[in-house]
Amino acid sequence: MKGVKYDTFPFTSLEMKYLLFLVHLVLGVSAQTWCGKNYMSTSPIVPPGGLFPIPATSKTPLLALRCSPAIRPYLTEDANSDSDDIAILIDTPVTFSHIANAAPITLPRLDELASTSVSVTVTVNGKKLTSGNVPLNATKHALPFKLSGLKPQAKAFDISCTATLQSQKFEASGSLSFLPQPPADIGSVTKMDLRTGALLARPATGEPGPFAPVFPIGFYTDFGGYLANDFTIPAQLKAQGCVTMSLIKVFQNVVDKSWVHPIPSFDNLTALDIVLDKMQEAGLYLMYDMRLNYMNATAVTEQVNRIKSRPNLLLWYTGDEPDGTSDPLDATLKSSNLIQSLDGGDGLGGAGYHPVSLVLNCENFHYTEYASGADILLQDTYMIGNNVTFSSQWGTVCTPDYGDCGCDNCKGAFEDISTRMDEFRDRNFINGWERTKAVWTVPQGFGNDTSLLEGWISSAFRSSRYKSDSYSFLKRFPTGQEFVVESVVGINHGGLGVVSWDDPTTPDIKASASLLAQSLTKMTPFILSPSATFRQITINRVDIGLWTVGGQTLVLATNMNYLSVSISLQSLGLPSPQPSVTQVLDSGARTDPARSHLLFDSVGTGAFIVRN
Ligand SMILES: *[C@@H]1O[C@H](CO)[C@@H](O)[C@H](O)[C@H]1NC(C)=O
Ligand SMILES: *[C@@H]1O[C@H](CO)[C@@H](O)[C@H](O)[C@H]1NC(C)=O
Ligand SMILES: *[C@@H]1O[C@H](CO)[C@@H](O)[C@H](O)[C@H]1NC(C)=O
Ligand SMILES: *[C@@H]1O[C@H](CO)[C@@H](O)[C@H](O)[C@H]1NC(C)=O
Ligand SMILES: *[C@@H]1O[C@H](CO)[C@@H](O)[C@H](O)[C@H]1NC(C)=O
Repeated sequence: MKGVKYDTFPFTSLEMKYLLFLVHLVLGVSAQTWCGKNYMSTSPIVPPGGLFPIPATSKTPLLALRCSPAIRPYLTEDANSDSDDIAILIDTPVTFSHIANAAPITLPRLDELASTSVSVTVTVNGKKLTSGNVPLNATKHALPFKLSGLKPQAKAFDISCTATLQSQKFEASGSLSFLPQPPADIGSVTKMDLRTGALLARPATGEPGPFAPVFPIGFYTDFGGYLANDFTIPAQLKAQGCVTMSLIKVFQNVVDKSWVHPIPSFDNLTALDIVLDKMQEAGLYLMYDMRLNYMNATAVTEQVNRIKSRPNLLLWYTGDEPDGTSDPLDATLKSSNLIQSLDGGDGLGGAGYHPVSLVLNCENFHYTEYASGADILLQDTYMIGNNVTFSSQWGTVCTPDYGDCGCDNCKGAFEDISTRMDEFRDRNFINGWERTKAVWTVPQGFGNDTSLLEGWISSAFRSSRYKSDSYSFLKRFPTGQEFVVESVVGINHGGLGVVSWDDPTTPDIKASASLLAQSLTKMTPFILSPSATFRQITINRVDIGLWTVGGQTLVLATNMNYLSVSISLQSLGLPSPQPSVTQVLDSGARTDPARSHLLFDSVGTGAFIVRN
């Protein structure tokens, strides 16, 4: 085993088979489920359970009051700020569904919700923080307050919000993090803007600069065989427009764990430090991945303490498809609490200096339990070149109760991505998490058996889903244009980060990712603006997101058809013809000469700034 070089990529197929054979042996007879479903043809069909409950409906209206700070966390330096960032956001959804904290409300007129206001008071430790009138069915209505009345502390403040409408009274609670300036062993702070879900960070280079919204776009990037062998890669990625990188250390760990005596560790910390320095120099943010040992408190503690002083640390990453491997239901929350306790927070659910993320692979398996351990949830719906209804790997069909086709409960179309994004958003709303958690998307950037193995091999330690001799869910790579479609469908359905699995990938995907990344800088003033109004429409399988700020609208539109399509601006409710249009992304889309239609090639995508 020592002969297998952990830092060499690619493995020859013989080495790979040997490695996998060992993995297979190590696994023995571990669980044979994915997303809780049996998938071996010899196993019976057993409903996996863990479905997200559909809330009961109500015949009469309910008010589901929510309150949260506009920014998480605040810092000592914000105490005297009079920015409108210092506010408590009040949401007053009126619904006919028994979602979290929904209580019956008697209303004079249901058709005049916006002209009926509740009187809201926000208190901390029994002392009034702020108050004001908030219209019914409002979202993120801001009630400004002064931080100077509070003392910064690691423990999050519990906030209580009371809304009254005549004699009716409604209560909600929230969490306000107001942390001391970071101590010397914390190298950066990442805030979350709960109005948009966007991350706010200072420059990744560690140079001084204000907090600014970041739209993370980048790849899960192989460390052992790629970054560690060529320290110029971070600068190259930055030049291509990447904003973040998530380091994968799969190979070393695979070999490491395959040892009969799993000591010493093969992680090359010298190389890791050099790569992190180069990333910082290039201005790339780090998404620090603890997928292989996020449940090991000792390993998490070591890593968080080692990495938290890095100025370019943007966020932590724990479970990689913990729902697929049926990790203990409390594993992600425990891990997140531990991380926050080491990173300036209270370890009880309050924020630390950086948010925590994880990716879920299942469509509907214990969502609430796994998602509770993250501020940012990623979904990885891989449908390109994939037979999602029949597993050639296992020789079984894939149904809601059975089988593993590599894309859980999918239909095999781009809509699988928007469906997944919408489901996560809807569940967050039902759970009362719509302000406090954001969703990102993981576009498929792989498609080779080999490449798939590299990535998912880690999961093999917890599931024998990965056969040693063949592995072939996904038969081809997406094209560059398909990659952009996958990414934009995610963004149009609320995705605030795009992190593709994985780099290295094809030159075509790299070129398209770079095109998208570079044009995103022109789109983020719309997408990440707290004052933007947003709507999403799908017409003829063209998925369109519209963000309006002032007199301008960003139209980000992607054609999911393998044929060309034309969409009139009129059908989008926009003035037509437009006097002028600024195109900021061209992946096979344009306006017609009259500027009254958007024209899309097969799987073409475009972004346009127009008048509204
Ligand atoms: C509240 O607003 C939402 C979203 O704008 C809307 O879908 C819903 O119908 C409104 N609720 C009521 C009771 O009108
Ligand atoms: C670790 O990486 C450094 C920097 O690339 C290299 O000089 C060293 O040989 C590596 N150590 C091992 C054990 O591979
Ligand atoms: C947990 O991590 C520590 C530190 O890396 C390691 O020594 C230990 O063996 C790990 N425990 C398990 C059960 O893997
Ligand atoms: C999936 O595989 C099954 C069995 O081989 C086949 O009948 C079906 O047509 C395939 N579907 C797609 C979309 O390729
Ligand atoms: C796909 O896999 C084949 C066989 O392992 C390899 O030769 C090829 O370079 C891979 N393609 C990419 C883009 O990684």
